[in-house]
Amino acid sequence: MSESNFESISTEKRIFNPSSAFSDSARVPSLEDYKTKHAETISDPESYWASVAGELEWFEPWTKIRDESGKPFLKWFVDGKTNITVNCIDRHIAAGQGNKAAIIWEGEPGESDARVLTYWDLYREVNRCANALKKLGLKKGDRAAIYLPMIPELAITTLACARLGIIHTVIFAGFSSNSIRDRIDDCGAKLVITADGGWRRGQILNLKSIVDEAIIDCDSVTDVIIVKRGHGDPFPCKVKEGRDKWYHRIIQDQPIHCEPEKMDSEDVLFLLYTSGTTGKPKGIIHTTGGYMTYAYDTTRNVFDIRPEDVYWCSADIGWITGHSYILYGPLLNQATVVMYEGAPNWPDSGRFWELIEKYRVTIFYTAPTAIRAFMKWGDEWPKQRDLSSLRLLGTVGEPINPEAWIWYHELIGNENCPIVDTWWQTETGGIMISPLPGATPTKPGSATLPLFGIEADVLNEEGNSVEAGLLAIKNTWPGIMRGIWGDEQRYRDTYWCKWDGQYYFPGDGARKDEDGYLWILGRVDDVVNVSGHRIGTAELESIFVGHSNVVEAAVIGSAHEIKGQCLVAFITLKAGVDASPEIIDQLNQLVIQDIGKFAVPERIIFAADLPKTRSGKIMRRLLRDIAEGRTMGNVTTLADPSVVEALKRRYAEN
Ligand code: PRX
Repeated sequence: MSESNFESISTEKRIFNPSSAFSDSARVPSLEDYKTKHAETISDPESYWASVAGELEWFEPWTKIRDESGKPFLKWFVDGKTNITVNCIDRHIAAGQGNKAAIIWEGEPGESDARVLTYWDLYREVNRCANALKKLGLKKGDRAAIYLPMIPELAITTLACARLGIIHTVIFAGFSSNSIRDRIDDCGAKLVITADGGWRRGQILNLKSIVDEAIIDCDSVTDVIIVKRGHGDPFPCKVKEGRDKWYHRIIQDQPIHCEPEKMDSEDVLFLLYTSGTTGKPKGIIHTTGGYMTYAYDTTRNVFDIRPEDVYWCSADIGWITGHSYILYGPLLNQATVVMYEGAPNWPDSGRFWELIEKYRVTIFYTAPTAIRAFMKWGDEWPKQRDLSSLRLLGTVGEPINPEAWIWYHELIGNENCPIVDTWWQTETGGIMISPLPGATPTKPGSATLPLFGIEADVLNEEGNSVEAGLLAIKNTWPGIMRGIWGDEQRYRDTYWCKWDGQYYFPGDGARKDEDGYLWILGRVDDVVNVSGHRIGTAELESIFVGHSNVVEAAVIGSAHEIKGQCLVAFITLKAGVDASPEIIDQLNQLVIQDIGKFAVPERIIFAADLPKTRSGKIMRRLLRDIAEGRTMGNVTTLADPSVVEALKRRYAEN
């Protein structure tokens, strides 16, 4: 997090109480209720989680609620058998809610592309797809990579995999072919589900050709399914005989019922790749019973969701937010979910407010980056629309600066909607720290207090509780990841080594105030959060040093007005090579090829030398100081102090 942001949240003192109108009908109606119940769930977590899980359907009950004997490898609802799709769909149909809207989808091109799927429609489509996958020979435990735009088939195919116990790994459609290949190779996916194209700001993204390039040498892939995005002829794409199949053809004659696989609680439901401090992105493992229970409980507590709500989370299903709070959590709660394919500023900057007005959205969940962009685009856009249907607002993905919080509160919430600032991660499966909207007085910039069953603290390196330090989670919870695919050691090292396995270490800095409220300060490792997207600086550095003219590269995160943080790369070229615009272009192209456009650095600064300690370690702290225009921190350990002065000049010139 930037210094200025840190200062503004350090001095922030305003408190906003939930309105009595909201509290009166809320699931948790007061801070006292929250505190009493939270204390109970900490002293007896097993009873709490058993009662939550007991509201869901199980083919066979669990024999033990949790098993920590192999910690940090954890088990929840041991021996229980269930299927998450039965709980997301069949359960609601059995309760007579089959005709309730499950998904209201709108494509980027507008009106003509709107589609509503009731719970019954979803049942039919998911089951037809599952039967088609079965016919292709796919079975429980196989892996399927899903690379689709935000269209209903993204939800349908993901759920169809879950119905059969095929482990899905959804890949955000902004990732490049190299990223897809890395993920497929890592998990040995047999199947790839993609589309002939998707719309983004009036342009067609040729997803199938990106997949074709990705899987040229992937021996594990035996089948590719292509969803036809539009109504007419498909977008131009190659179809490889034998391997590739059109989605609409393979599902057309399939029966509408498909027996759900009886999944063990600890059978893997999905993998989701995310960036870490070192190496390639890691496949975070989530299993069935615990993830389901946690997504169910956190959705209803944080969003106070009701049958009549129209809920819209503007994330993409390709990220964890979309998994837990577009797909699984809301569907487990029988919600009506809005799903939107396009960008917030296409065809104009009022698109989101138009959708809220059109569908009478009651709960809206978005990222601080988006809020800052809306602020920049001007108040006239939201003011043109009737946003009076909104009753609750949420944010996720990065710290929210108080200015953005207040704008959201005033302009979008009409000073009438509680704001839930939700802190969590891919690894945690669901929200961990957040206000409960009817109970928790909010402070702009603070994610406030831990949810039920979660014990959070701020510790120093030695494990002592401090006011400002590292965020730590003391206990375990059902939704926590079960490991990293194929890399047990990395799982132990990354999350459990800091305090001898006693606490989960998320990699974030935090501050705790006099009311016990938590203020998340951002990552303390070499992961940068650009517009809420996690990017490992080591990943980018290894891409840059792969360029034949680059000797050395250091990438840091620097404060950015809209994106929260942006990437700045400091690069040393080979002697005699000119720092030309062509080289910048080549370096950016390498990032686009290897990761995707969203990871292209904001600035590339060429430097004859990088600041290093006498033992040769690059001092990134100083690079951050330079990028954020701060007075230098301690420079006494620098091998050559003149390097910093030269870099400062270069930075100012660029
Ligand atoms: O640094 C924290 C930040 O996002 C990281 C997790 O990123 P990812 O796994 O991609 O999941 C994002 C969506 C859950 C965290 O380590 N982060 C997430 N939410 C917040 C946040 N930082 C501050 N406040 C938040 N509300």
